[in-house]
Amino acid sequence: MATKVLTDADALKRIGNTPIVKLESLSNDKVSYYAKLEGHNPFGSVKDRAAFWMIKDAEEKGKITRGQTIIIEPTSGNTGIALAGIANLLGYQVEIVIPEKASEETKKIIASLGAKMYETSDDLCPKVGAGTDQSIALATSIASSRPDKYFSPNQYSNEANFLGHYKGTGPEIWKQTEGKITHFFTGVGTGGTVTGISTYLKEQNPKIKTIGVQPQQNHLIQGLRNFEESAKPDLFLRRENVVDDWITITNEQAFAAVKEIFQKEKMLVSPSSATVYAAMKKYPISEGVVVGIFADDGRKFKILYAQQKIFSAEEFDRALKEAKHVSNIVYMN
Ligand SMILES: Cc1ncc(COP(=O)(O)O)c(C=O)c1O
Repeated sequence: MATKVLTDADALKRIGNTPIVKLESLSNDKVSYYAKLEGHNPFGSVKDRAAFWMIKDAEEKGKITRGQTIIIEPTSGNTGIALAGIANLLGYQVEIVIPEKASEETKKIIASLGAKMYETSDDLCPKVGAGTDQSIALATSIASSRPDKYFSPNQYSNEANFLGHYKGTGPEIWKQTEGKITHFFTGVGTGGTVTGISTYLKEQNPKIKTIGVQPQQNHLIQGLRNFEESAKPDLFLRRENVVDDWITITNEQAFAAVKEIFQKEKMLVSPSSATVYAAMKKYPISEGVVVGIFADDGRKFKILYAQQKIFSAEEFDRALKEAKHVSNIVYMN
């Protein structure tokens, strides 16, 4: 696969406007299924949108200054990569607090983008809620010790995270489906994606149904949250009524879907995208146009997929060469 190395100038312009592809393996005469491929953002995930919007918002409000402010954030991975990449391009130092269980590849990318990293023994997604969340506690304590120097975007309550999807991803999906979307599926981390997109879509057509996808408790799905074991973030709570229904997917179902999607669609997807695919497959829909968010692709999960016996290292390398719809952009600053 030919790769393209990003230059500073084109990276920021390439946030958003991600492609949508039809999933032939799920579609039939009555229902068309599509995946919105957020792995095509310049730093490889849906989180480029939140990171960019939160930094721009803080700049516009005069909360941060290029060359001076250090951006610090607790994250299970993708927000760390996005902030490290984007904030660096804009002239900020970045410090990331990350659960040690996040994938090795994720940590390497964050380090290669020049961010400092602190590891905590949290679960995969920081558990927002009383006393359980070491990443958030550590980031907060570092930031509050030097408020003149540090700024934490706090994706769990920052309205700009919602707005990136309300003004970007939602309108893109509406346009890409020519207003025909009937059902929307996504996993939930902070809730920015689900609330931003659903709020916009329901304003266009209140009949559109949103199905929230959650992994089982004690899950292995980087980026997603199970609300029986983890409190709901403030950002999600503000608009939680946008979710019409929930579906829970087990680790086993999610990892089986990683393999199935490669076999049937020739796509190499992330565990969270496979979780959304498994949910779209399981949830009964008799007619309509269905869109699921594939928040990132499979490139960061070689080690996890070998551990889970989905692809050996050799199979993974071969799959990556054969895979369709993988972005050809290399993340670097
Ligand atoms: C890997 C990953 N990160 C983030 C998200 C969405 O996160 P948020 O709710 O924080 O917008 C998802 C949702 O599908 C995801 O799969």
